[in-house]
Amino acid sequence: MTTQPADAFVFFGATGDLAAKKILPALLSLVRRGRLAVPIVGVAKEDWDRARFLGHARDALERQGALDEAAFQRLASLVGYIGGDYRDRATFEALRAALGAAQRPLYYLAIPPSMFEPVLAGLSAAGCTAGARVVVEKPFGRDLASARELGARLAPIFPEAAVFRIDHYLGKEPVQNIFYTRFANAIFEPIWNRDHIAAVQITMAEEFGVEGRGAFYEEAGAVRDVLQNHLLAMVAHLAMDPPSGSSVEALRDEATRLLRAVRPLDPADAVRGQFRGYREERGVAPDSRVETFVAVRLFIDSWRWAGVPFLIRAGKRLPVTSTTVTVDFKRPPRETFGEAVPVSSNHLRLRLSPEVLIALGVRVKVPSERMEGKDVELVVCQNEGDALAPYERLIGDALAGDQTLFGTQARVEEQWRIVEPLLRAGTPPALYEPGSWGPPAAGALVPPGTSWHDPRASERERCGPDRAQAGDAGPGANTP
Ligand code: BG6
Repeated sequence: MTTQPADAFVFFGATGDLAAKKILPALLSLVRRGRLAVPIVGVAKEDWDRARFLGHARDALERQGALDEAAFQRLASLVGYIGGDYRDRATFEALRAALGAAQRPLYYLAIPPSMFEPVLAGLSAAGCTAGARVVVEKPFGRDLASARELGARLAPIFPEAAVFRIDHYLGKEPVQNIFYTRFANAIFEPIWNRDHIAAVQITMAEEFGVEGRGAFYEEAGAVRDVLQNHLLAMVAHLAMDPPSGSSVEALRDEATRLLRAVRPLDPADAVRGQFRGYREERGVAPDSRVETFVAVRLFIDSWRWAGVPFLIRAGKRLPVTSTTVTVDFKRPPRETFGEAVPVSSNHLRLRLSPEVLIALGVRVKVPSERMEGKDVELVVCQNEGDALAPYERLIGDALAGDQTLFGTQARVEEQWRIVEPLLRAGTPPALYEPGSWGPPAAGALVPPGTSWHDPRASERERCGPDRAQAGDAGPGANTP
């Protein structure tokens, strides 16, 4: 694998949504930090000239609140634009000319999967692939078979070391924090197993809907959009064994090994939902059966995790926007003080958004003559400070040739294998009301006597400067 930095950055889909919202702000920030100074070429089907593209880029950055005039001038001096059809040879000949003497271009495919084939064919035919790397957006394929096909299509053109399968959750600071917290402290490992952990919950709730992305969402649904990638990435970080050694492969191999042990999801352990009103969204079929909510109970067949349910739910138009992981520890074998203690009294709560915090739920005595207690949390809030945004970090890594935070073909295939039974089952989604927690049937997935944790119970938490505190906050009032 070449570790020399890329000497040109080319993004296909340069006028699209992803480019406007994520790629252009990331490029601007990389330029601002002095980490990007190579030629940049935007490619898209709009027949624009460079000035018009720059105007569009400027507006997009302004809309994102990301415009920094000085950095934009530097970015603009690096940017070229090619407008043309992805099936037209001339588009790629123009690209070949624009790349000039570049030896190691990085291609970013910010385009629908249906366009991958013509772009790969165009790059090959124009002789643009030698020494190049490619970044492929998620979802990588639509299912296991198409992921394999895509892998096989890429392999003769780009060796595995040149393929960067992006899942922006892997570039998120708080997702890395899960992994860091586990392995930078010795106290968690002895209790991080079925003897001490009763269940693990992950809630990725979004208050908003599909926001004009109806046509994209119709092709995806919650399983392909976030469960197969972002949420399984979190499961891997939460459940994997400590990596041996510090090579790039060490971390990626351990994550893949964990995913290999995850049982394919049983449709009986899943609930799919669709919010009322989704079918009226632009680009959505009036009889759509696409899910905007999914909840699953997942099991890992290993000694560490045998019998421990991983309860995962994600959805649009839920009551709040928040991503939270809660690890519920088992209660002592008997309640020494005869109290009725909530089963999730002892827990570790990792809140990824909107604030980043880590909270340890413990039981403490209430000052009185009686041996009576209450649940409190020891809370550490963490400001992200000047942390790199996920796309900035990942594009920077891809430019540098560092694959640590990118998926391997093996990993992506494992992730598809896990969700494949849900995709096949095609059970119609149950309707749920916008602003609710999805179909009530999801409540039956959690172990008897427990419930899903409601991230809203922690909404009063607002992180100031990094701090630790103790408070009465619990893992949240439970939701059905
Ligand atoms: C994207 C999905 O990958 O992740 C979106 O396509 C989702 O549907 C988004 O809203 C969530 O990402 P973040 O970084 O806002 O949590």
